[in-house]
Amino acid sequence: MLKSVSIFADVAEQALDNLSSLLVFKDQPKDTLVFGQDDPGDAMFIILQGKVKVVLYGESGKEIILTYFREGDFFGEMSLLDDMPRSANVITTEPSRLAILRREAFIAHLESSPTTAINILAELSRRLRKADEIIGNLALLDVYGRVARVLMDLAASEGEEIDGGTLIRKRPTQQDMASMVSTSRETVSRVLNEFQKRGLLEMDGKQVILHPQFYREVG
Ligand code: CMP
Repeated sequence: MLKSVSIFADVAEQALDNLSSLLVFKDQPKDTLVFGQDDPGDAMFIILQGKVKVVLYGESGKEIILTYFREGDFFGEMSLLDDMPRSANVITTEPSRLAILRREAFIAHLESSPTTAINILAELSRRLRKADEIIGNLALLDVYGRVARVLMDLAASEGEEIDGGTLIRKRPTQQDMASMVSTSRETVSRVLNEFQKRGLLEMDGKQVILHPQFYREVG
């Protein structure tokens, strides 16, 4: 099970056996707060099944989705590493099975397995790159470009090549897409409809097919 988690790839069997005996498992229903921003944190979480979103809330209650994590991803490592409160809220968006690793066990594992430490650094570097890209997109792209980027990221991570384009089986709700690109649900709806009218994509409920013209015109 741990082998399928990217940060534990290439870690010796013995170290993983020791680690798995230290994990605690928790099943969480959909839409459950795993922890809140500013909570104290002394454990990190590995998603064995399901999906979560990492969110911030503005003063008026406006939601900003920083990212989604799915099976095989980990979160909650920041408070473990810097001993500061949680930097964001984490909420399940599907029923989820989580493995919980407390600080002492995590530190003991890192001391015996530098490979995990290097893998975590690589993952943190990927996340920082992604955050840089999002900051750049917010400042430099208009709302059409930002919605297009969300669709292209989804296509890259979970799209399937079919006749006529790339199929995304289940896009986020329009409200969640709005929270990802800092705009309103109505604007996301307008942008998606306009892309459809221009023949760049096809929508059927949560399903979207991105046509090759989509990449040529807005990619
Ligand atoms: P922690 O601060 O302990 O709790 C919130 C978690 O959300 C954090 O650890 C990271 O695992 C994750 N997180 C916070 N900000 C981002 C971000 N910009 N990109 C990806 N993950 C994040």
